[in-house]
Amino acid sequence: MPTSQPASPVFTAAGRHALALVAREARADGVREVLAPRVRCTAMTTPFELEGLHVTDVDCAPSGLLAPGALAAALAACDRPPLILHAETFGNRADGELRTVLAAARSTGARIVVDATHTALERAEELLTDAGPGTGAADLDNADYLVASLRKLLPIPLGGVVHGLVRPAAPTGDELNADLAAVAAIAERHRDVPVLKDAVEDLLDLAWAPAPMPGPYRARLAAPGLGGKLTRRRARLARLHAAVADLDVINPGAAYQPVIAHPQAAAIRTALARAGFSPPLHWPGVTDGLVVLPDDPRAAAIARRAAGPTALREALAAGEASGPAEPFDFDAFISSKTPKTAGLPTG
Ligand SMILES: Cc1ncc(COP(=O)(O)O)c(C=O)c1O
Repeated sequence: MPTSQPASPVFTAAGRHALALVAREARADGVREVLAPRVRCTAMTTPFELEGLHVTDVDCAPSGLLAPGALAAALAACDRPPLILHAETFGNRADGELRTVLAAARSTGARIVVDATHTALERAEELLTDAGPGTGAADLDNADYLVASLRKLLPIPLGGVVHGLVRPAAPTGDELNADLAAVAAIAERHRDVPVLKDAVEDLLDLAWAPAPMPGPYRARLAAPGLGGKLTRRRARLARLHAAVADLDVINPGAAYQPVIAHPQAAAIRTALARAGFSPPLHWPGVTDGLVVLPDDPRAAAIARRAAGPTALREALAAGEASGPAEPFDFDAFISSKTPKTAGLPTG
């Protein structure tokens, strides 16, 4: 774990930039390996790979969080203390067992990075705490770094933050980051042109050098109206959760879109796409069995309709599988249909 008191948070243009700052500090301190959840997107680990750290995949529990047993096994295989990327995926928080494994790992020198991108609504206050030098920092709750992409759940198109850096360096960015900020501003003015939003994502996939959060977005996060906006968003999400509470929701009660596990998840996603809803998150190959519900009551109704026929199919399949079928005796069937008079002499 880092040796001295953490300094102020650093606000960046994206979550990956915040992770890059963690990667640089850890690398400089001799860390060479990151244990990362298998349920993730590439932007969460590329910053570490760019700094030359090895990324080891760790299996996840159905909640999407690191599975405690798999994490303990991965730790046992490390030859020096690694950095553990603990993402609060889908707004889920570590429970007792995972917390225990994380705390034990930290006590033996592993560094814990909490990725609070999906808990940013719940943790907004602590994430946005802008402690000046000497005024203390956010309570990291038994972690070394608290990181988030703020642009996913908070009302800004670019933004990330990292708390806990011991040697925070002001990110400088490069020309690409200037383009990124310009295109993000245009995309926000023309929300009806989705390709502009895609252009922002494409630029982010090139602009890995940590850049500062553009000033106007810092100001928006400090504006007095933000609290009310976040409260309304949380309330809307709570209603959405209530609307699908009877389905197999893997993040019940989270301040995040409901995530539904369903055998026909792909068909439900297609039904939503046909109705004009793009998924808030889909990581191909990782979340294929899940549907992350768009934040709209109509989406809940569409998902429910698309999920419905499957329940019937499953019931039929369960009925078919409820016992061994009698082998069908074709000859007996034919002879039962043959007229009893057949073959008798006539006339
Ligand atoms: C959990 C999580 N962390 C970090 C990131 C990276 O954030 P950004 O895209 O702002 O760089 C993402 C992006 O999808 C994410 O889902």
